[in-house]
Amino acid sequence: MHLRPWSTADAPLLRGASTDPEVARQLGGAPFADDAAAAAFIATRYRHDEHARNWAVVDATDTVVGSVSATAIEYVHGTAWISYWLTPAARGHGLATRAVVAAADDAFALGLHRLELGHRTNNPASCRVANRAGFVVEGTERERLRYGDERFDVETHARLATDPVPDVEPLPRSRS
Ligand SMILES: CC(C)(COP(=O)(O)OP(=O)(O)OC[C@H]1O[C@@H](n2cnc3c(N)ncnc32)[C@H](O)[C@@H]1OP(=O)(O)O)[C@@H](O)C(=O)NCCC(=O)NCCS
Repeated sequence: MHLRPWSTADAPLLRGASTDPEVARQLGGAPFADDAAAAAFIATRYRHDEHARNWAVVDATDTVVGSVSATAIEYVHGTAWISYWLTPAARGHGLATRAVVAAADDAFALGLHRLELGHRTNNPASCRVANRAGFVVEGTERERLRYGDERFDVETHARLATDPVPDVEPLPRSRS
């Protein structure tokens, strides 16, 4: 398993992953209608440059099994927002934690100081990933998210460049 930038050739896999409601929420709300829509999303939203570090998590056959991103990169204060998802089949093996640690290493290497993330308070797996990846709980934003008619509290975490390095082996990163 490793991280690499997204390619528009990943569109069929991204479209398939978007049929999972939890993944779809991270991609804008609904599954992609077709591969072209997924490819357009990759080209515009899953960019990989100094302003957005969107990584595909891929297996040994270069098949996408998930995503981890550092976005909203801001160099004045040195901050970014971390998000992640895995396909249902890839969950339960600690993979997200290793992916988040790898993305954090990359973000800190850009010179950033503070990485932030948030999860619904009813998403214990995401909370566990955040804690294991060294992101300290900072508070709760009440009813921060709305999905359909329901609103959800969000717990926020952050990791500073000066925080302890978690005892987790990061996934390797490749440039292509
Ligand atoms: C969140 C997500 C990335 C976790 O990925 P993962 O690599 O499969 O994580 P794991 O299955 O190893 O679970 C991480 C930890 O949460 C725990 N966990 C999983 N489900 C849990 C639950 N329902 N209640 C309590 N703990 C749970 C696991 O036991 C594991 O703990 P451990 O590290 O002590 O073994 C994955 O579930 C996912 O893609 N969910 C949908 C998208 C999403 O929610 N993204 C995050 C949005 S903020």
